[in-house]
Amino acid sequence: MSNEKKRLVSGMRTTGSLHLGHLEGTLRNWTRLQESYDCFFFCAVWHAFTDRLKIDNLPGVIEEMIIDWMSVGIDPEKSVIFRQSSMPQHAELSTILSMFTPLGWLERCPTFKDEVRDEESGERVSLGKLQYPVLMTADVAVYKAQAVPVGRDQLPHLELSREILRRFNHQYGEIFPEPAEILSEVPMLLGIDNRKMSKSYNNAIELRETSESLKNKIQQMITDPARVRRTDKGNPDVCTVYGYHKIYSPDRCAEISEGCRSAGIGCRDCKGILYERLNGMLEPFRAKRVQLESRPGLVSEILAVGETRARVEAEKTMDEVRRVMGFLS
Ligand code: TRP
Ligand code: SF4
Repeated sequence: MSNEKKRLVSGMRTTGSLHLGHLEGTLRNWTRLQESYDCFFFCAVWHAFTDRLKIDNLPGVIEEMIIDWMSVGIDPEKSVIFRQSSMPQHAELSTILSMFTPLGWLERCPTFKDEVRDEESGERVSLGKLQYPVLMTADVAVYKAQAVPVGRDQLPHLELSREILRRFNHQYGEIFPEPAEILSEVPMLLGIDNRKMSKSYNNAIELRETSESLKNKIQQMITDPARVRRTDKGNPDVCTVYGYHKIYSPDRCAEISEGCRSAGIGCRDCKGILYERLNGMLEPFRAKRVQLESRPGLVSEILAVGETRARVEAEKTMDEVRRVMGFLS
């Protein structure tokens, strides 16, 4: 372990199979950051239950998630990999920090307000949902994280975390560093139906697509709705496919845009180019996954090592917290 490296903590909710949104929004960053930070990456299992009360085959979901992480380059030799649900210290610290969190802060949190607005009535919003940012704060503080990579949507949570920890430190001294965000600037990847990419909309391109299923999904992608016939001129700026080209075929965008506007290129060819690009990108991930899946027990071993290491760090922090608060005699 190198002591010079800053400590970085981040989590991903166990909501099902990973898609390109996870890859571009989170995993590329994690892979890069693990070279320069002391990284702790975890499956945010409890957080996943804020949206659903039951997750089918959760152990399988977790195993697939970790294999997906590794298939794109997360390396258990470099990073500590573990499950939030194996760390009671997160829950202990969350309980403590909840006392330092005025209700108004949580109710004003934009992610929470959106949620309440979407629900018929506030009655269906759980306490767990309300205190989501408190648990997140505990997730990072229990390892004294200095840096937290998050997407822009999570920024309000991290701002709350800093307030909560500041309030704790004000009473008990500088126990927790204020975690700084590492923002991932990612172009928003839309789903194949041009809505936000989400498992629940069934519009995601998954990391586990076969070349066959990938081809199918790309065929279903919404193009410029005004371009009905091959001879109609199109507008790439309103086309989902073109949004993908901007990320995956930047070198061909000028040509595609011009071809679309002049009806020089058809949507079928345009989708064909995207298919080649995406399939080429997914291919090495598939190969790595096959290799990882051929080693039974691998994920259990990785979790055993990661959780042992995480436990040592979490207990160190909690001992300090228990001591300064007077829980130990
Ligand atoms: N809320 C994060 C998300 O949905 C996941 C998460 C849970 C997290 N705990 C965290 C991210 C701690 C960073 C740090 O993306
Ligand atoms: Fe979209 Fe390409 Fe068809 Fe233009 S040619 S509408 S960019 S799929």
